Formats: sequence, structure tokens, C-alpha cells
Amino acid sequence: MKAKIVTLPGDGISPEIVAEAVKVMNRVAEIYGHTFDYEEALIGGVAIDETGNPLPDETVEKCLTSDGVLLGAVGHPKFDNDPRAKVRPEQGLLGLRKAMGVFANLRPVKLYPQLLFASTIKPEVIEKVDLLFVRELTGGIYFGEHGRKMVDGPDGQPVEAAYDTMFYSKPEIERVVRVAFELARKRRKKVTSVEKANVLESSRLWRETALEVAEEYPDVEFDAMFVDIAAMRLVRYPEVFDVIVTGNMCGDILTDEASMIAGSMGMLPSGAIGATRPGLFEPIHGSAPKYTGMNVVNPLATILSAAMLLRYSLDLDAEADAIEAAVQKVLEDGFRTRDIMEEGLAQVGTREMGDLVAERIA
Ligand code: IPM
Ligand code: MN
Repeated sequence: MKAKIVTLPGDGISPEIVAEAVKVMNRVAEIYGHTFDYEEALIGGVAIDETGNPLPDETVEKCLTSDGVLLGAVGHPKFDNDPRAKVRPEQGLLGLRKAMGVFANLRPVKLYPQLLFASTIKPEVIEKVDLLFVRELTGGIYFGEHGRKMVDGPDGQPVEAAYDTMFYSKPEIERVVRVAFELARKRRKKVTSVEKANVLESSRLWRETALEVAEEYPDVEFDAMFVDIAAMRLVRYPEVFDVIVTGNMCGDILTDEASMIAGSMGMLPSGAIGATRPGLFEPIHGSAPKYTGMNVVNPLATILSAAMLLRYSLDLDAEADAIEAAVQKVLEDGFRTRDIMEEGLAQVGTREMGDLVAERIA
């Protein structure tokens, strides 16, 4: 097959990890006889530096006309220091997700048995974990109305205030919950919907809607849970979860928490899909600016995101399986980047890890 893949090298360590994923995809193309044409585009801090815009129109255009998009990460502390900065790298990513309509973000949490002891959580708690988050990605509090205003302070003097709004329409909830149920049918047939319906009105609509959708899937077990309890159970009984569907912010927070089950943020890939293709694939972690150019970060989350791109945007299941098997093999062979290093094993850098995976593609 011939496919056009847009790569978004982004900020910080991101160009380094995207390069390793491309290396692995090239090896797949060679072995399976595909032609992947790559086109690079700007997003995030680098896009602000070059064009003043975290999401240039040209980037959106390229992504929308591609077969799949692979992103590293965006964000840089130089933009964090001015909290009232008008343009921020993260706006580029949120804008792209919205422009591509990729409302369902699949974040699988898989524990490789070789990393059982890399986690800070006791092995007996996490050994049976195999769960999939479906995070709503183009709505909720990250996209609701926000702003600043002056209000009356405690002594009657005006003080500065800020607000963000959590807003969900019923169709937005329905479509993402449906994705969760469809995926659960191919897994252990259990969906847990997570929100804060004991306090928030938008969560009550979320729960009501999830219950309605659940009726269409009598073969799938359904459970609704408050987010605070879910956060606790994720580290107490994580094996009880199969598919967790949740809103944008809860999904953002819970997946960073869940990455500790897998041993490192550097192990968790993600894929954002919508009603139409292409999808947007990126590791769940950030741009780790302090490690930039040091060849120390773990490229596996991005390599596994490339596998998801092949699976979900190009329908190349065997090729995606081959990448996942190669990652498994590298870990079995005892190679580790610094974040997952254990005594007695071989520590390798970002580029070496990419080479080792590419060599093992069968
Ligand atoms: C993620 C990231 C992003 C998000 C940031 C960089 C905007 O944390 O993909 O989880 O909050 O969605
Ligand atoms: Mn996040």
C-alpha cells in the first residue's frame, strides 16, 4: 500500500522520538512492501517560533489530507512562565484535535511482564492489568468557555478571577461512549464510565447518556463510577477494569496515573480517532524539554503509537502486531531506556532503542 503520513516533530524531545518511530515504520514498509511517504509539519512551540501560530493553516491542511498523523509532543517552559501569554503550544494540539474531529482518544494500558518490577506499584496488584481508556478529546472543560474577570473580593474591593466551563452535549457523549462499547465487544466486554455525577451537572448528563447507550449493548457489562473512586481503584484493583470511558480532563489525569501501572509514561501510546479518517497518534507523555538532545528518553510510547496508526488509520493489523511483538522482544532481550532501567540489564539510548526495535520487525 501507498500511504501519506504526516509527522509533527513538535517540541523538546519530540523530534527525537518521532525519528525513532519513523525508523521502525520504514522497516515495516521495507519488509511488508509498502510505501510510506512522510510529510513534516509544524505544531506547538516550534510553530510559534517560526510563524507566530501554534497551528499554522498549512499544518491543518496537510493533516486533513493525509492517511494518518504521528505527533511527538508539544510544550516548552518558556511559554509557561507567562501565564497570560496569548499564544501557547498546547493550543496547537487542542486546535488540531478539534480540526481533525478526533473525539475518541484510545489509551491502552498494557503491562509488559518484563516491566512488572519497573512499576512503583506492587507486582501482585498490577500483574493482570489490561485496560483501555477512551478519553473524550474534543470537548469538555478543555474546550468550554473560559476567561478572566474582576469580582468583588472579601473586603468589597475588586479582585481578579478566572473561570473554565465544563460543557458536554448529549451527542458528544453518545458518540464517545459508543466507541467504548464497540471496543469492549472485542475485549473482555466491560465498560466503566467515569465522571463526577454526584456534583457536576455535565456529569449527570454524561451518566444518563452512558446508561442509555449501555442498553443498546446488553452483551457488555456496564458500570458508572465517580472519578475519585476510580482514581483509587486504579492503583488498588486495576485488574477489574476493561474499557474506561471518561471526559477530557478526567481522562488526561487518570491516564498519567495509569501509566505508572505500565512502569513509565514512556510506555503509553495513544490514538485519537473520529467518525472519519485520518487519526492522530501520539504518546501520552509530554515534551520533557530538560532531556532535549540527550538521547536518553524512551521512544517506545511513540513507536507503539505508530503501531496504532498502522492499525487504526491504515488497517494494517499484521504490521501493527509486528511492531508490538518487536517491542516485546526488545524488552525480553533485556534492553531498557533509563526510565525503565533495572539492575543487571542493558541501558540504551533513544536511537539505540529505535534500532533494536527496527531490527526485530519480522
Ligand atoms: C495529553 C497532554 C495534552 C492534553 C496537553 C499537552 C495539551 O497532556 O495529551 O495528555 O492535555 O491533552
Ligand atoms: Mn496529559
